[in-house]
Amino acid sequence: QGSVVIDLKNAIRTIPDYPKPGVQFRDITTLLGDARTFRRAVDELVQPWAGLKIDKIAGIEARGFIIGGAVAHQLSTGFIPIRKKGKLPHQTVRVTYSLEYGLDEMEMHSDAVLAGERVILVDDLIATGGTATAAVKLLRSIGAEVLAACFIVDLPALGGVQRLRDMGVPVRTLVGFE
Ligand code: PRP
Ligand code: HPA
Repeated sequence: QGSVVIDLKNAIRTIPDYPKPGVQFRDITTLLGDARTFRRAVDELVQPWAGLKIDKIAGIEARGFIIGGAVAHQLSTGFIPIRKKGKLPHQTVRVTYSLEYGLDEMEMHSDAVLAGERVILVDDLIATGGTATAAVKLLRSIGAEVLAACFIVDLPALGGVQRLRDMGVPVRTLVGFE
């Protein structure tokens, strides 16, 4: 592993038994709170895309807004918020997705992307991939071309990256926790 990855990994705090017994919660607030590691993480995420034509970054509520906003600024693109249901004021498209317990819905404004626009999906972390695969479905439903999805943290044991790749989405992650 390179020194940047080690640096980022060390900046992420692990909270045992949160939100329930047996879960090791990977807390990125410590990485975000440090100017150097926050910048590094964003620089690493955008690295393959610098100079390419990207129309928009889509970020998933809530932590994906923090990372995605910074990525959009760095790449000089627009930003699309994908939100939990009921938060967006204009006409939306909606998708149901599965969480650990039960189902939830997320939505996006129907006019947030034009058909054929090139979009990169951003979130802080991918676990089962339920959230990210639903976001890809939303984006594709209104004609966006999803060029890639990127995340600071991957939990590879939960298989989310593979689910996205099976949908034909290239994935970039920076740090893995087994
Ligand atoms: C977390 C994380 C991802 C998602 C990953 O968000 O920020 O969006 O879970 O899990 P998955 O790959 O199994 O779908 P959460 O739903 O906790 O929402 P928050 O960002 O609003 O805290
Ligand atoms: N950390 C943060 N968000 C998460 C995690 C985690 O370990 N697992 C699922 N969502």
